[in-house]
Amino acid sequence: MFNKICLLLLLVISQTISAETGRAPTADQVNAGKVLYQRYCVACHGENGVGEAPIPDTIRAPGYFTAMPLDEQSHAWHHSDEQLQETILQGLQRTQRMPAWKAVITPDQAALLVAYIKSLWSPRIVACQGPRHMSCM
Ligand code: HEC
Repeated sequence: MFNKICLLLLLVISQTISAETGRAPTADQVNAGKVLYQRYCVACHGENGVGEAPIPDTIRAPGYFTAMPLDEQSHAWHHSDEQLQETILQGLQRTQRMPAWKAVITPDQAALLVAYIKSLWSPRIVACQGPRHMSCM
């Protein structure tokens, strides 16, 4: 009995922590995430997450990063839901252009943004998201 309760608790906890990596988001999550994306992210990551137009190396300032696509052309899907949320909330060390959004965006809103980003991926890519990406394709 005790073991069963432990197992149940573990399942509940791991589901909360590991969110939905590898699973498709619901339509409600995607719609709510899209509103946030259009407000905060579209200026750099583009309509439908296509990313900024690349700047040729010859005229790009050293250390200047363009915003990569978040759809499946780039490697956003190699990251788990948690890693993507972390990037959104904490920003990226390597460039100030991707700031930490934690003063503006709550963890729940970051999860909705991840849901929207995942809606830009095909079901096959969603199934191979995160740690599975090496073995799954
Ligand atoms: C001012 C431009 C700008 C804005 C606005 C912006 N980003 Fe970024 N973002 C970047 C840049 C630049 C990078 C890093 C590119 C690189 O490292 O090559 C990045 C990287 C990322 C990554 C990492 C992707 C990966 O594959 O590792 C994620 C996720 C991301 N942004 C999500 C968002 C979300 C969600 C928003 C809106 C809340 C947002 N960004 C707003 C510029 C921006």
